[in-house]
Amino acid sequence: MGERLTIEPMRSDDIPAVLGIETLSFTTTWPANAFSNELSANKLAHYYVGRVDEKIVAYGGIWVILEDSHITTIAVQPEFRGRGLGEQMLIHLLDEAMTRGASWITLEVRETNDVAQRLYRKYGFTNVSVRRAYYSDNNENAVVMWAGNLRGQLYRNRLRALRAALYG
Ligand SMILES: CC(C)(COP(=O)(O)OP(=O)(O)OC[C@H]1O[C@@H](n2cnc3c(N)ncnc32)[C@H](O)[C@@H]1OP(=O)(O)O)[C@@H](O)C(=O)NCCC(=O)NCCS
Repeated sequence: MGERLTIEPMRSDDIPAVLGIETLSFTTTWPANAFSNELSANKLAHYYVGRVDEKIVAYGGIWVILEDSHITTIAVQPEFRGRGLGEQMLIHLLDEAMTRGASWITLEVRETNDVAQRLYRKYGFTNVSVRRAYYSDNNENAVVMWAGNLRGQLYRNRLRALRAALYG
């Protein structure tokens, strides 16, 4: 295992660093007030930052609504990608969703975003539908992915094996 992400709840002081990664990661970006509203006004929302050597290099967020959860965003600073850090953040989001009682988790991802789709498939997500022209910047379709029965034995075993492979 390479670097270990130190993952903590996102605080409003973290937003400038998060926006720095956001602008390097997405063609349409969330404004600063979207993050601050999520942190202050959305009780269903849970956002996290991941640090390496004290520096924020990753973030991610979920909404949890009873048994349903939704990954709203996940990103890693470009020069830190491909080292297992996005995977560590995804595991954290899954753990948080399950701890908060979720049994199902969903997300939207750009049709051309093969890297993210591969990561999600590794963690048991499958394609459930396509939202046509979901992304307004280039009319790209969104693939809706979903993983289910998170708290069932099968998924727990899968997660345990993936966690062991990642963390050794
Ligand atoms: C998607 C993202 C978070 C992945 O983070 P990462 O730290 O680069 O990924 P990891 O190193 O943890 O890799 C985990 C898995 O992702 C997939 N993956 C990562 N890099 C990949 C690449 N270059 N090519 C193909 N698959 C890749 C693989 O499934 C990999 O597992 P493996 O190592 O067993 O093959 C990151 O690439 C990112 O921030 N992208 C821009 C923002 C974004 O697209 N977010 C998702 C929005 S839905």
